Amino acid sequence: MNTRAPLKNPTPVYRDFLPGDEKPIADLYRAVFKKERTFPEWQWEFMDPPEGPANIRLIEMGGKVIGHIALIPLRFQYLDREIIVGKSEDSSLHPSYQGKRLFGKLEHGCFDTAAEKGVSVSYSISRTARAVHLKAGYSPLRPMEGRFVPINPVKVTRELQKAMHLPPWAPVIMKPIMQYLAYRFKARLKRKVEYRTYRIAETDHFDSSFDTLWQKFTGQHRLITIKRSSDYLSWRFLKNPNRRYRIFKALFGHELVGYLVTTAVRRKGDFNADLTIGVTSDYLILDSHREALAPLFDRAVQDWMSRSCDCVINWIHRESLHANIMLKQLDRYGFISMFGKFSIPISVRALRDDVAMEDLKNGKNWYLTLAFSGRWA
Ligand SMILES: CC(C)(COP(=O)(O)OP(=O)(O)OC[C@H]1O[C@@H](n2cnc3c(N)ncnc32)[C@H](O)[C@@H]1OP(=O)(O)O)[C@@H](O)C(=O)NCCC(=O)NCCS
Repeated sequence: MNTRAPLKNPTPVYRDFLPGDEKPIADLYRAVFKKERTFPEWQWEFMDPPEGPANIRLIEMGGKVIGHIALIPLRFQYLDREIIVGKSEDSSLHPSYQGKRLFGKLEHGCFDTAAEKGVSVSYSISRTARAVHLKAGYSPLRPMEGRFVPINPVKVTRELQKAMHLPPWAPVIMKPIMQYLAYRFKARLKRKVEYRTYRIAETDHFDSSFDTLWQKFTGQHRLITIKRSSDYLSWRFLKNPNRRYRIFKALFGHELVGYLVTTAVRRKGDFNADLTIGVTSDYLILDSHREALAPLFDRAVQDWMSRSCDCVINWIHRESLHANIMLKQLDRYGFISMFGKFSIPISVRALRDDVAMEDLKNGKNWYLTLAFSGRWA
């Protein structure tokens, strides 16, 4: 599809997703993003979320699907109650139809149908659609900032030079810096610290102790964030068919007081750097057990080393709860700040009047981790 020349003066038809649209959506995805997506991954992300299938709107032109937008429903804690929030995903128009002002109507149609289904807020993490989303009434939050450490300095230098189109002499300066940062990281890795208060255990499932942890967490904080129920965590981190996560629990006696989820992303990605990047996908700790983050992070570092990561990047939302404790861990291992272009933008929009834009725009209300970012991390 979509490879044929557009029909003369066809009229765009805006409509909801129907069974049978799976293939046209996959074809559009390939044409727009120049990547393949497997059917199991699409099914997991758009059809199987715990709160039900995504609200998908399409544009058809001459009988062909040429536009797509989706809001994936997620249960959120919104200050002192729960709401449903839509994660905006895969906004796309076929290249032949971009820049023709077709997208605004598609997006607003999606907002309206989602609001009718009880979706109160929508959020977007997209660099490329940012301007379009701001135009559609989203407000930006403070972006998540990247903190970086190289493990394989030679490969990181080579790939960054390629990806950032740096001049041929750039590695002369970059390589010794990368080598120093990697040396410092590895030296710190050797420093053994004994944490007697907490036991760190790896798990391959999210049992009811995670629901109890969430109850305690929300008892302590009025925040806007994804509800970390065992159902959500299982869907997000265990059922993604394309990514393997590792889950580390912090136990105080037998009590679960925190967890941290890691993964390794093999990514040519936006910057076209062929690197395996270690990331923290999610973490959560009880306020009274903040010290548990240090031994959790130590286990994460061991995991990235065992996965032969070329570098590690941790994204931090500085206004979020416990960001300062995470920053301490990153400082401990010598992570450095990355350029702004490596930060992750996030923007948010109210869809119903049961939420206040003032509350949504206040970054201090949010607890943001990479869990918000979806399938790639
Ligand atoms: C994102 C995308 C769907 C937008 O579609 P589009 O056809 O380019 O956008 P439209 O022409 O319909 O513009 C939508 C609105 O945003 C505005 N807009 C578009 N680009 C803009 C820019 N760079 N700066 C400011 N405003 C912009 C338009 O003026 C229009 O507003 P208006 O209707 O009030 O005039 C399309 O560019 C696309 O498919 N991009 C590639 C895929 C992608 O990167 N998706 C995002 C990741 S999920």
